Amino acid sequence: MLTNAKISGVAGWVPEYVLTNNELSKMVDTSDEWITTRTGIKERRILKDDNKATSDMAASAINILLEKTNTSPLEVDLIICATVTPDMLFPSTACLIADKVGANNAFGFDLSAACSAFLFALDTGSKYICSGKYKKVIVVGADKMSSIVDYSDRQTCVIFGDGAGAVMLEPDDSTENGVIDSILKVDGAGGKFLKMIAGGSLNPATKETIKNRHHYIYQDGKTVFKFAVTKMADVSEEIMKRNNLKGSDVDWLVPHQANLRIIDATAKRMNVSPNKVMINIQNYGNTTAATIPLCLSDWESKLSFGDNIILAAFGGGFTWGAIYLKWAY
Ligand code: UT7
Repeated sequence: MLTNAKISGVAGWVPEYVLTNNELSKMVDTSDEWITTRTGIKERRILKDDNKATSDMAASAINILLEKTNTSPLEVDLIICATVTPDMLFPSTACLIADKVGANNAFGFDLSAACSAFLFALDTGSKYICSGKYKKVIVVGADKMSSIVDYSDRQTCVIFGDGAGAVMLEPDDSTENGVIDSILKVDGAGGKFLKMIAGGSLNPATKETIKNRHHYIYQDGKTVFKFAVTKMADVSEEIMKRNNLKGSDVDWLVPHQANLRIIDATAKRMNVSPNKVMINIQNYGNTTAATIPLCLSDWESKLSFGDNIILAAFGGGFTWGAIYLKWAY
């Protein structure tokens, strides 16, 4: 039998510590005015506890999700963790999360697609539901960006923050709601503009890689900005066209929160009015894989059954994409 995958619940979790623009301006040569006007960010959350990592934030979001959806962890079939900051290279963060939340009947894996990872994971998870094989799939986007941010590099340290957001996917047998369509893309030629050079099989950790600060994010901000503005708008327009949606048909645009100027440009091209765009970048900065589920969580009370929602993202890889879904509760 045909079925769609619907989001049946959402939850977010961010650490307590608030890193403000003013505090950053004491660490590097920057200012609240520059950060606010160039990015839209006012503050971000940082996971300060050295003994906690991405899996802990993801587990916290998932525990809230399980409670909200009245689900026992033993009912969960699959956990897909979208992240670029796994606790370690292996075991996968999904394995650690499953253990932490007691999802002892689930399997799981990590999915790496930088800022687009939540979209890639949501699409992947929805296919497992549509196949009929699984009934409860959790997709969690979680990143402890503070573990790979160079707090002496003003170009990158002002942008990123830590956080996690999770959704529950279940079958929607009406086939009217849930994930309707997706367009996902990669272009590895863009990899050189946004990357972490060391720590993988090409450049394992050495004294040199540490001295050269190669275990931190490198970003050519201007180039990434240029591609992000074009590609996020292109793919959003494409998914609207092929689903016969006009700007006025879109109830909510949920964009990746990398830069307010990228979000505004995307909404403008889609002809979606600003009051239909979810924006929380001012509070959390760019939490990479967590931005979109954190938005859905913050806006949950405003969402209605049947709402037309477009999710859109662009990130390192390059990776980008858009998903069209109808809200199911
Ligand atoms: O989520 C993954 C994808 N990532 C993105 O989408 C991020 C895309 N890029 C961006 O959002 C922006 O490029 C940044 C926010 C990273 C930088 O903003 P920008 O408007 O592109 O600045 P810029 O790199 O063109 O730099 C303009 C000036 C430069 O000074 P000069 O050369 O004009 O004297 C920079 O050195 O601003 C300077 N600058 C800063 N000044 C104060 C760069 N960073 C800072 C800073 N504070 N934090």
